[in-house]
Amino acid sequence: MPQVVVEHLSKVFKIADSQFTAVNDANLNVEKGDFISIVGHSGSGKSTLLSILGGVLNPTSGNLYIDGQDVYSMNANGLAEYRASKIGFVFQFSSLVPVLTAKENLLLPTIFSPRQHDGKEKRALEYLDLVGLGDKVNSRPFQLSGGQRRRVAIARAIMNQPELLLADEPTGDLDEDTEAEVMQFFEKINKEMGITFILVTHVLGLAEKAKKKFRMHGGKLSEIS
Ligand SMILES: Nc1ncnc2c1ncn2[C@@H]1O[C@H](COP(=O)(O)OP(=O)(O)OP(=O)(O)O)[C@@H](O)[C@H]1O
Ligand SMILES: [Mg+2]
Repeated sequence: MPQVVVEHLSKVFKIADSQFTAVNDANLNVEKGDFISIVGHSGSGKSTLLSILGGVLNPTSGNLYIDGQDVYSMNANGLAEYRASKIGFVFQFSSLVPVLTAKENLLLPTIFSPRQHDGKEKRALEYLDLVGLGDKVNSRPFQLSGGQRRRVAIARAIMNQPELLLADEPTGDLDEDTEAEVMQFFEKINKEMGITFILVTHVLGLAEKAKKKFRMHGGKLSEIS
């Protein structure tokens, strides 16, 4: 069985007395270790789909199975544990805690993880170094540039050694060189740590690097050959 199975997944938002279908009958199988990209116009439903995959947004209908487990049949505690133990999420918009330093932001998710984390301090420093922020360990978000904050968020997403990394426009405010470095970092953790990767991006050059490519259009997900 694939690691991720998405079956007839839809999300309908209700606004006043009208409704809007943001994700329309999406189907997707992801094998462990896959590297998948999703492209699509603004408003096509990419972030909505990613949020459902990450266990943070209930679908209106359809099913999501991760490692054979029916994610949205779990109660709130089960869902929280699912997120903490299996998922790394790089959100589209900055999500760092402003009062914490870069290193403290990395350590935050480990507090909620049910797993034991030996050497997490060392790992936090190592990951910050990997994203080129070895000298910003004790900086707080307001002391960092937009691209640096994004890199902290990327390093944080792998702190719990997730099985599935979901990244929503992770290179959004990075220059081309930094974007290339971050992409190399993603390929490295995909290969070396075996982390399955789903990348939403509007940068076609990045999407091209994925092993499997998908497009979203008006809530419909389709594979690009
Ligand atoms: N909470 C919400 N309530 C109502 N409508 C929503 C909500 N969240 C998203 N939508 C709508 O669903 C559609 C898809 O939004 P989504 O954020 O998934 O798009 P996207 O593909 O990620 O776009 P972008 O590339 O701009 O980030 C949009 O039309 C948006 O207005
Ligand atoms: Mg989005």
